[in-house]
Amino acid sequence: MRAEVVRMSAEQINMEAVEKAGRILKEGGLVAIPTETVYGLGGNALDPKASIKIYAAKGRPSDNPLIVHIAEMEKLSEIVTEIPEKARILAEKFWPGPLTMILPKADIVPKETTGGLDSVAVRFPSDRVAQEVIRAAGGFVAAPSANTSGRPSPTRAEHVIEDLGDAIDMIIDGGPVGIGLESTIVDFTEDVPVVLRPGYISLEMLKETLGEVRMDRGLLITDSSVRPKAPGMKYRHYAPQADLTIVEGHEEAVVEQINRFAAEAAALGKKVGIIATDETAGKYPLGIVKSIGSREDEDTIGQHLFEVLRDFDHCQVSAIYSEAFYTPRIGQAVMNRLLKAAGHKIISVS
Ligand code: TXA
Ligand code: MG
Repeated sequence: MRAEVVRMSAEQINMEAVEKAGRILKEGGLVAIPTETVYGLGGNALDPKASIKIYAAKGRPSDNPLIVHIAEMEKLSEIVTEIPEKARILAEKFWPGPLTMILPKADIVPKETTGGLDSVAVRFPSDRVAQEVIRAAGGFVAAPSANTSGRPSPTRAEHVIEDLGDAIDMIIDGGPVGIGLESTIVDFTEDVPVVLRPGYISLEMLKETLGEVRMDRGLLITDSSVRPKAPGMKYRHYAPQADLTIVEGHEEAVVEQINRFAAEAAALGKKVGIIATDETAGKYPLGIVKSIGSREDEDTIGQHLFEVLRDFDHCQVSAIYSEAFYTPRIGQAVMNRLLKAAGHKIISVS
């Protein structure tokens, strides 16, 4: 493996390693960093060559723009030409944190970083390790999720090693992330703010702060002729190798249906994977059952979603069945990712 892996935590930051990461980034290299949402694959956002390297390492189409990460509020005005009042309000309320804002880009941001667009996505992460590395790198780090394009986003350094260990220079291991779902993206290039990707900061929280906020039409409609505005949301994503189907409905009916699928597979000598919760895991006698977390504490579901999808790639399963997770606060974000992973295959039972 090519990448040097360095462990550190927010409580014990290894400044020597941070400075080394900063040097690598300034020289155009790639460093994976922990953030509170998912691990990011960092490169110098102002260096077009670094952005090109990021696309190559991930195997990502170059029309899919990157998020520029900052670690000081004041840096925002250096990379955008305009900060609408509502964007300022959101930044004050949710930064540092799991929020990305799309704003008109300044000339110093190369088109290679924005996938050819005149707007730029900006985020100020709350993770202290990420902040130190961003500062050491000069203040602007472009970082998509640090997975191979199409695979589930990485929530642990091991996932980054698995996907990108041979392709990048350094990986900072800050342990498992806190949130596990990528940031909420809000577009400010239109009159009304538009959510392009749901995340930990929910539509309701945004509406409470700003009043009118819309969801991108491309997120609400599964018709593939309506394109989501965030280029990345149109791609097949997060998919495990085995076929995934979501089963939604009342708990008992869902458990019964999934058990029926598992029994059918068992009769053919096959095993299915089942994504359950702490509350239901004991109700599936057949198949490989993984609990995603507890419905009593929905944050645990967000934390484990990508890990569970990834783990099934290491199991010999013929198909995967998942319960649906329409939990009150982050359910929209969780189901957005799960539906993509399932290629929108969902069965309703009652
Ligand atoms: O939580 C996160 O946001 C993580 C961590 C590492 O910060 N990053 C992340 O980046 O999820 P990525 O590249 O995997 O997803 C960025 C999304 C893509 O769907 C992309 O199309 C969209 O943001 N995006 C970026 N710039 C945009 C722009 N100018 N206009 C519209 N969408 C944009
Ligand atoms: Mg991604």
